[in-house]
Amino acid sequence: RGDPVFYTWHSGVKFVWSGGVNPAASLTVSPHRLQHFSTESLSLICEGNSTEWRVKKADEYGDVSPCYYWGEMTGSTCNTNTRASSGVYWCESETQSSNAANITIHSVPHPVLTVSPSWTSPGDSVTLTCSVGPPSAGWRFFWYKAVPDMSDYYTYELLAGGTTGTEQDSYILHGQTHTAGYVCRARRGDPVFYTLYSDVKFVWSGGVNPAASFTVSPHRLQHFSIESLSLICEGNSAEWRVMKVDEDGDVSTCSDWGEMTGSTCNTNTTASSGVYWCESETQSSNAANITIHSEFIFI
Ligand SMILES: *[C@@H]1O[C@H](CO)[C@@H](O)[C@H](O)[C@H]1NC(C)=O
Ligand SMILES: *[C@@H]1O[C@H](CO)[C@@H](O)[C@H](O)[C@H]1NC(C)=O
Repeated sequence: RGDPVFYTWHSGVKFVWSGGVNPAASLTVSPHRLQHFSTESLSLICEGNSTEWRVKKADEYGDVSPCYYWGEMTGSTCNTNTRASSGVYWCESETQSSNAANITIHSVPHPVLTVSPSWTSPGDSVTLTCSVGPPSAGWRFFWYKAVPDMSDYYTYELLAGGTTGTEQDSYILHGQTHTAGYVCRARRGDPVFYTLYSDVKFVWSGGVNPAASFTVSPHRLQHFSIESLSLICEGNSAEWRVMKVDEDGDVSTCSDWGEMTGSTCNTNTTASSGVYWCESETQSSNAANITIHSEFIFI
């Protein structure tokens, strides 16, 4: 405007994309689908009548970035890394632009395992169900037992017959008798892609297990947080730990809210309500619901 003449800056560059075939320049995506996971590498391949190509992406905010921000250009192919995210991708040279593709890149799914029922009586069947969010087609499910690892957390051992996985997203455990933890994950595709492992979910038994027992002293299930409780493990193992799952489903061990002395856990004032039990590398005890009231009593 004005005199003397004054110009604003240029606007940002905005694109009009074509999804149609352009014989002079093409983008192909390998593997050939538009839904991917962030741990898979994609090849974005440029072909056409130019010697030098670059691959561009516009993200959901319209910000445009070149291949080297989220991958590596080799010749006329961009191989993405784990920083690649959903957006519109296309190829360009100094004289040509290819078709554009809407590519969705999902974070790696974290399946959710549910167990039903979570309290069992000897001989019950228990159903494990593994759910993976969308895209949900084409998964095979793998089922594991969580084996206590005294120096760590749990190691995961495939359940019998589980090496090829199941097509169904559920698995039935027959004749469940003892307290035990389970985990699932899923796999699909070629190249093979695995989800994360689910969190560990437990099936508890309140019944007597001659090989491993859990007792509470003083012997009642209602307590106040100012009392110290002794949670006592007994059975055929040299090393035990006391576990807890609280009302939010969070798993913790004695060292988080007390102190383990031999095979007894003495709680302190940070202990709270939940399901408690003992486990060793080879045994798990009965479990108990313990309610711990805070020290304040309102009348
Ligand atoms: C613990 O509480 C759950 C839910 O209230 C109940 O189903 C289960 O039988 C209880 N277990 C024992 C051993 O009392
Ligand atoms: C309770 O025990 C935990 C683990 O030993 C410790 O970190 C915490 O400080 C203790 N809290 C109290 C109030 O003694």
